[in-house]
Amino acid sequence: MSYRTEYNQSMNDPEGFWRKQAEDLEWFKFPQKILSLDEDGIGYWFADGEMNTAYMALDHHVKAGRGNQTALIFDSPVTNTKTRYTFSELTDTVAKTAGMLAGLGVVKGDRVIIYMPMIPEAVISMLAVARLGAIHSVVFGGFAPPELALRIDDATPKVILSASCGIEIKRVIEYKPLLDKAIDLAKHKPQSCIIYQRPQSVATLIEGRDYDWTALLSKAKPVGCTPVKGSDPLYILYTSGTTGKPKGVVRENGGHAVALKYSMNAIYNVKPGDVFWASSDVGWVVGHSYIVYAPLLQGCATVVYEGKPIMTPDAGALWRVCAEYGVKVLFTAPTAFRAVKKEDPQALLMKPYDLSKLQAIFSAGERLDPPTEAWLSEISGKPVVDHWWQTETGWAITANLQGVEPMPIKSGSSTMPVPGFNVQILDENGVQVPHGTQGYIAIKLPLPPSCLNQVWGDKNKFRDSYLQFLPGYYTSGDGGYIDNDGYVFVMGRVDDVINVAGHRMSTGEIEEVVATHPEVAECAVIARDDELKGQVPMGLVVLKSGATISEEELQKQLIARVRTSIGAITCYKDTVVLARLPKTRSGKTLRKTLYKIVNGQEYTVPSTIDDPAVIAEIIATLRSKKLVA
Ligand code: COA
Ligand code: AMP
Repeated sequence: MSYRTEYNQSMNDPEGFWRKQAEDLEWFKFPQKILSLDEDGIGYWFADGEMNTAYMALDHHVKAGRGNQTALIFDSPVTNTKTRYTFSELTDTVAKTAGMLAGLGVVKGDRVIIYMPMIPEAVISMLAVARLGAIHSVVFGGFAPPELALRIDDATPKVILSASCGIEIKRVIEYKPLLDKAIDLAKHKPQSCIIYQRPQSVATLIEGRDYDWTALLSKAKPVGCTPVKGSDPLYILYTSGTTGKPKGVVRENGGHAVALKYSMNAIYNVKPGDVFWASSDVGWVVGHSYIVYAPLLQGCATVVYEGKPIMTPDAGALWRVCAEYGVKVLFTAPTAFRAVKKEDPQALLMKPYDLSKLQAIFSAGERLDPPTEAWLSEISGKPVVDHWWQTETGWAITANLQGVEPMPIKSGSSTMPVPGFNVQILDENGVQVPHGTQGYIAIKLPLPPSCLNQVWGDKNKFRDSYLQFLPGYYTSGDGGYIDNDGYVFVMGRVDDVINVAGHRMSTGEIEEVVATHPEVAECAVIARDDELKGQVPMGLVVLKSGATISEEELQKQLIARVRTSIGAITCYKDTVVLARLPKTRSGKTLRKTLYKIVNGQEYTVPSTIDDPAVIAEIIATLRSKKLVA
């Protein structure tokens, strides 16, 4: 079938199109209602279907005779460990882990937070929670206690699952003190914590609240799958928005399973038995969708990798894993490829490996920059597919559909809208702009299955944050254009979200931390282009009058504050002290102008500026520090 036919079917008869895709899964009760719309045009998919996502991802395959096939491969160069689970083994372990949680009172609808490094127990936890019809919320292990506390207070979990430590290359990061601190900071207190003790660091447990994972599991009895409705939440995943408070994106069971299963055929072109590797972390949406759920729903083996693309031990790591396990599709972020390119530009470390099973390389998390794409295509000889997506959608909005009709690749473009997504480029009045003209990338409602239709705990937030700006459309927060051939070019965020090594951060949130320093009067945190990580945050700071702190000392203190408040993952490093910030006459900081100046882009001084002389002052300061030419 051609891409155009497939796409048009999804637009002309969405219910028929998605009913057909839903038939590809084993439901307890097939949905009668495919799509329900509320008065705002917000869609709810498969609301009356009965199912269990963990059943579809595990038990179903055992029943279908794939029990002995590999489901999960764990490869940890940082601990020299390699293990495998078959579908039968993974199903049994998940059933027992679910029993362990049930023993602590976890039932359908309860929330369970998972704060874990990249070990199989992280995946097992997610599936065990899903098996009970409960709702998991995975918090990325690199987040500091205040961030974890925010999520504990918002999701109000009954139980938290964690591990004694994570390993960052050679550094052991003790998770338990971070967890204890977060629970201290949070108003909500979980009833219990279950800690997976790793030999690299054994955590001290708090009696009456904490349980040793292995001991508790050994006493647990396996439990079956609790049926849930298609519209019941599977998970909450927090993501950075424009405010300091992260948003809890709610993912429903039915639409999620259907969209991910479809994506494995249509986008990635992988089949049951194939090996799929998303080199990300279960704490991010890519990890949720393509380390855990999609590969298992499709009956593929998934790789859980506890390591980096470089340094564990070298820049051949990606190719080693692909060759060793016969990976058919590799998916990671451009920053990982840039890191490999920097260390091994000639790809000499690729040469020892047989990559004949590798069919395609997928990239997401940020735009795949054309030089990196060209390098990767040349050294691998494989199709390199950029695809654009967000935590909010859970799967790709634009892609080059390898399983439908591979299209010619255009450098810098993530190709065409995926079936189900009516992507348009609009101006601020909601009017479509001509081909080639940049504007807001918006998706006409209703959104296809898997996309969010609510923010956890705040009934109006979805509408207010995403639907209000351009009525009838979901506003993606990204800007870009569509060319004459219909190819979509996503050029970057149009809000205060920045992208650091493929991780989404809010400058507003970092700004809140910088602003609390006792010597800081005001500040603006903006993104600075970075060769390796795409963007890194930079603080432009005005000191309180009479402040005596040196710029060097201030920078040191701000780095420490951001690391302990949000996490090292923010990569906050540079601080520049300015005499004043550029403001409009109504007192709004001109962040976009600052961003353009710092990144050497052309800028115009807005007519609303309070005092145009401030621009020359700032440029002089940045030049004196050799930050701009
Ligand atoms: N727990 C605790 N700390 C963590 C962490 C975790 N799970 N993950 C990262 N960190 C820390 C790192 O140790 C580092 O700390 P440091 O400043 O003290 O060295 C900091 O957060 C930044 O981490 P990272 O961005 O991973 O930088 P790096 O320099 O260690 O590695 C790359 C550089 C390019 C190899 C790395 O950024 C990478 O692998 N990127 C791919 C990103 C990716 O997969 N994104 C997924 C989105 S699809
Ligand atoms: P996250 O929700 O963390 O997955 O981040 C989503 C954001 O990352 C998007 O809104 C984009 O800004 C950016 N992004 C992800 N994939 C791409 C891509 N292929 N091209 C351009 N930007 C991307």
